[in-house]
Amino acid sequence: MSEFKAAMVFRAAVLLPLAAASLESFSAVLHFEDEPTPLPLERAAAGGLPVVMMHGMGDFGNNPMGMVPLKKAIAQTANAYVHSVELCSEPSKLENCDGEDQKNGFLMTMDEQVDQFARVVKADPKLQSGFNAVGFSQGNTVIRGYIHKYNNPPVKTFLSMHGVLMGVNGLPQCPMSVPGLGAICRTVDALVSHFGVYSSLVQNRLAQANYYRDAENLAEYRSHGHFLPYINNEVQGQQNATYKKNFESLEKLVLVMAEDDTMVHPKESEHFGYFKDGSRTELVDMRDAPWYTEDWFGLKSLDVQKKIDFHSTPGNHLRFKKEFLLEMVKQYFVSESSMVV
Ligand SMILES: *[C@@H]1O[C@H](CO)[C@@H](O)[C@H](O)[C@H]1NC(C)=O
Repeated sequence: MSEFKAAMVFRAAVLLPLAAASLESFSAVLHFEDEPTPLPLERAAAGGLPVVMMHGMGDFGNNPMGMVPLKKAIAQTANAYVHSVELCSEPSKLENCDGEDQKNGFLMTMDEQVDQFARVVKADPKLQSGFNAVGFSQGNTVIRGYIHKYNNPPVKTFLSMHGVLMGVNGLPQCPMSVPGLGAICRTVDALVSHFGVYSSLVQNRLAQANYYRDAENLAEYRSHGHFLPYINNEVQGQQNATYKKNFESLEKLVLVMAEDDTMVHPKESEHFGYFKDGSRTELVDMRDAPWYTEDWFGLKSLDVQKKIDFHSTPGNHLRFKKEFLLEMVKQYFVSESSMVV
């Protein structure tokens, strides 16, 4: 198959079933009802630091079945302006692109997603003094990339809900059993196994390949993988001190892991742990891992300043309770001065 033809097959195979699939049941998509929350008697004008939300794979920023009700609930809890970022295909288009936003979670590379995220937040006048960020699943990979590569305006507190932070060692993180999605999963699997996850064809087209960290094949990952090896500062000679400096400037990093996560493999990636170098079974905790002990990108610097908090939720990927998220928002995004009394 020629590269071009393979790319077309790839697009069709991924997009057609995606359009038909019932995304509500896709376990990477948030599902929350819109329910009226009682308003405080006296509401101050939104005085808290603004919040930016970044959705996960298969979801979209304007999703009325999850992201939108959650945005309202966060705005109310934090007493703050909230921007749920959409990733449109055209650099000049910053919003109102539900379909593109949803498919770009698969078919826009991570570097392009980060660049587009940066354009969107840069263009929003309400965010210019900085913001708190909350990501869901792959949305955290985007936020992490933004902090390392841009951070202008700066992220203050980064709340990662089940975030793919240290990569995955299984691809794609696809729920085979969900009707309509099995076909995408099988096709992507077939293309990845045919061309290889580190082939330029796959790296240039599939976001998930850009954070596939094969612990048994780190040399190939580092020489041919895009995105993650760079923001991790693990490519010899390509380390960038700005990436580390930006990450260290966070005021707080809050890492939430799903205890029974079957999407992110290994789930410890959500706490910046991962597989030990050379193994696909043996795990290493964040604090024992070389990226921490050698402080490749600022993780240790943050931790020694007590700026990292760990939490976990029972159950599977993105199946946390809304009350839990709002507790996190209250604890980390609400400062004394912005509290509504
Ligand atoms: C390091 O990263 C910063 C921020 O993305 C960029 O402006 C700079 O050009 C990079 N430096 C090198 C040497 O690539």
